[in-house]
Amino acid sequence: MRILITGGTGFIGRHLLPRLQADHHELVLFTRDAQRARRLFPMAQCIERWHDLHGRVDAVINLAGEGIADRPWNEKRKQQLRDSRIALSQGMVIRLGQIQQVPAVVLQGSAIGYYGSSGPAVSESDAAGQDFAARLCADWEAVVQPLVAAGSRVCYLRTGVVLGNDGGMLKRMLLPFRLGLGGRLGNGQQMLSWIHIEDWVAAALHLLGHDQLDGPFNLSAGAVSNAQFTKALARAVHRPAFMHVPAAFLRIFLGDMSQLLLKGREVVPVHLKKSGYSVLFTSLDDALAHLVR
Ligand SMILES: NC(=O)c1ccc[n+]([C@@H]2O[C@H](COP(=O)([O-])OP(=O)(O)OC[C@H]3O[C@@H](n4cnc5c(N)ncnc54)[C@H](OP(=O)(O)O)[C@@H]3O)[C@@H](O)[C@H]2O)c1
Repeated sequence: MRILITGGTGFIGRHLLPRLQADHHELVLFTRDAQRARRLFPMAQCIERWHDLHGRVDAVINLAGEGIADRPWNEKRKQQLRDSRIALSQGMVIRLGQIQQVPAVVLQGSAIGYYGSSGPAVSESDAAGQDFAARLCADWEAVVQPLVAAGSRVCYLRTGVVLGNDGGMLKRMLLPFRLGLGGRLGNGQQMLSWIHIEDWVAAALHLLGHDQLDGPFNLSAGAVSNAQFTKALARAVHRPAFMHVPAAFLRIFLGDMSQLLLKGREVVPVHLKKSGYSVLFTSLDDALAHLVR
C-alpha cells in the first residue's frame, strides 16, 4: 500500500514505520522537518505541505500532535494541542478530498482520554467525557468524518499509556526509579490503562490489514492503579520506591495537566479482543521486565 503517515517521527512512529517498511509498503511522511525525517527514514517520501501530496493514497495513519504531557496546559498550550491535531487533520482531509479517490483505510489517532479522566471502567460503547482531553480526542476523531462519509474504513485508535523505553511516560520515569526516587502520585488509587509498544504496533497492523474492522478501538492491554504501577516498576528496576508526591504539589506545578497523573480509569479493549487480536504482553511485570532489560 501507499501509506500517508503524520507524526511518524515520534515515539510510536519510530516503532511503527520500520515495520511498515519491512512489509514493503510505500511511505509518505507528513512532517514539520522533512530533512530530519529523511535522516530517520531515508526510504520514505517526506513532505511539509499538503499541496505536495500527490497521487494515490491507499491508507492513512494520523498521529501528529504536540505532546500532551510536555508542558503545563495554559490557554495558549491548549490551543497548540488542539491546532496540532485538529487543524492539521482538517488540512489533511481537504487535501485527500482533492486527490483522486479517498484512502481505503484510515487509522485515526485518539486516546483513552476520550472517555474523561475519572469514573468507572469503560469500553468503546461509552460516551465521550467533558473535560479538555476528552473534547480534544472527540474533536480529533470527528475531523475525519468526511472520509467516513466518502467511503473510507476508519478505525479510531483510543490509545492508553504506551510503554516503551525510548519514549512516552516510561522513559521519563526510568531515571528517577533507577535512582530509587520513584513513588506513588497522590493517593495512588488512580487507574492507568497501559499497552506495550510492540502490542500497539501489532494491533495497528492488525487493524490496517483486516477489511471488516472499523470504528473505535481501545488500545490497552491491562489496567492497574498508580500504586500498583509504582511497585511493579520498582520491582523491575530492583529499587525501592518509597517516595510519595502529594496531589497538591502536582496541582500547583502542573495546573490542569496534573489530571493526567492524578486521575485515570480502566479502559477495556472490547472491540480489539472481538477483532481477533491477541495481546502479546498481558502482564505488566512481563512488559516492564522486557522494557527495562
Ligand atoms: N505515547 C502515548 O502513550 C500516547 C497515548 C495516547 C495517545 N497518544 C497519541 O498518539 C500520537 C503519537 O504519540 P507519540 O507518543 O508518538 O507522540 P510524539 O512522540 O510526541 O510524536 C508526535 C509527532 O507529532 C508531530 N508533531 C508534534 N507537534 C506538532 C505540531 N505542532 N504540528 C504538527 N506536528 C506535530 C511530530 O512530528 P514532526 O516533528 O515530524 O512534525 C512528532 O514526532 C500523539 O498524537 C499522541 O497524543 C500517545
